Amino acid sequence: MERMVSGIKPTGRLHLGNYIGAISQFIKYQEEYELFIFIANLHAITVPIEAKELRKNTKDLIALYLACGLDPEKTTLFLQSDVDAHAKLGWVMTCTSYVGELQRMTQYKDKTAKGESGITAGLFTYPPLMAGDIILYDADYVPVGKDQTQHVELTRDLAERFNNRYSDTFKIPKPLTTSVGQKICSLQDPTKKMSKSVTDPKGTIDLLDDPNVARKKIMSAVTDSIGIIQYDPENQPGISNLLTIQSVLTNEPIESIVSRYQGKGYGELKKEIGQTIFDFLTDLQSKYKAIIESGKIDEVLKQGAEKANYIANKKIRKVYKKVGFTL
Ligand code: TYM
Repeated sequence: MERMVSGIKPTGRLHLGNYIGAISQFIKYQEEYELFIFIANLHAITVPIEAKELRKNTKDLIALYLACGLDPEKTTLFLQSDVDAHAKLGWVMTCTSYVGELQRMTQYKDKTAKGESGITAGLFTYPPLMAGDIILYDADYVPVGKDQTQHVELTRDLAERFNNRYSDTFKIPKPLTTSVGQKICSLQDPTKKMSKSVTDPKGTIDLLDDPNVARKKIMSAVTDSIGIIQYDPENQPGISNLLTIQSVLTNEPIESIVSRYQGKGYGELKKEIGQTIFDFLTDLQSKYKAIIESGKIDEVLKQGAEKANYIANKKIRKVYKKVGFTL
C-alpha cells in the first residue's frame, strides 16, 4: 500500500480552505492509502502563541479531523511533539539545507518583504522541519493545498541531496493537490487565499463559525459587476471561488452548477451556497461537540503516537548511523 503523510498547524481556527484543500483529500484517500496525519504543533511556535491557546487549538483540530470523517482505525493520527524523531530529523534536514534556498521560500520572503518585525529563526528553518516530517515515514504522496507545494518540492531536493551524500535512505515524495479547490480565496478579497491570519474575519469561514454567521459571510462575499455566472478565475475570481466551494461541498461539477444558473443572478447563487454552508457546518459541529464530550481524543492520540514512533524511530536510527552519530 502506498503511503501519504500530511499535517496542519494548530495556529488558529481551522477554515474552509483547510477543509477543501487538505482535509477533504485526507478523507478521500484513507480508503486506498496508508495515511499518517498529524498536528504540526512544532510548527505552531514559529510565531508567538500562548500555551493555553495552543492547547485549545490542538484539541479542536483533532476533534475536527475526526468530525470531518478521519477514521483512527484506518489513519494514524498523532501529535508531532509526541514523536521526538521529527525534531531530530528536522535538525539533520536544517543542516542539509542552504540559506539561499530557504530565503526563496515564499512565506518567509513575503514576511520579510513586508518588513515584519519579530520574525523568528524557527520561521526561517521550518521548511526543513517539514521535509523531515514527510520523509521520516517514506511518504509516496503529500496531500496539500497549493501554498504548500513549494515546501514539498524543497523536501524532494533535500531528500535527494541526503541520499546522494550518504547513500539511499529516503523515498522521494510527490505533492498531491485537488483538481478543484487547491486554493480557496478570501470572500472579501478573492485574489488572496483564505487564511488563518487574514485580519478581515468576513473573508474567512471558520469550521467553528456560527452557521448563521457563515451564511451571512457568503451573502456579503465580494463578486463583480459582470453579472454572468461562469467559471472564470481570471476575470471573475469571486464568483469562481463561490462556485468552487459549492462544487466541492456538494460533489456537483462546476459546469452543472453554471448551467443551472444560466440567466439567473448572483443573489440566488449565494442563497444556495449559503444554505450549503449552513447545513455543512451544522452537521460538522454537532459531530465535533459529540467528540469533545466523548473524551476519546487522548486514546486516539496515544494509539497514533505508538504507531508513528515505531516507524519514525527505525528511520531516525538509520539516519543517525549514516551521518556518524552512532559509534
Ligand atoms: P497550514 O496549517 O497552513 O495549512 C494546512 C493545509 O491547508 C491547506 N490550505 C489551503 N488549501 C486551499 N485553500 C486555502 N486557502 C488553504 N489554506 C491552507 C494547506 O495547503 C495545507 O495543506 N507547513 C504546513 C503544515 C505541515 C505539513 C507538514 C503539511 C507541517 N509539516 C508535512 C504537509 C506535510 C502548514 O503550515 O499548513
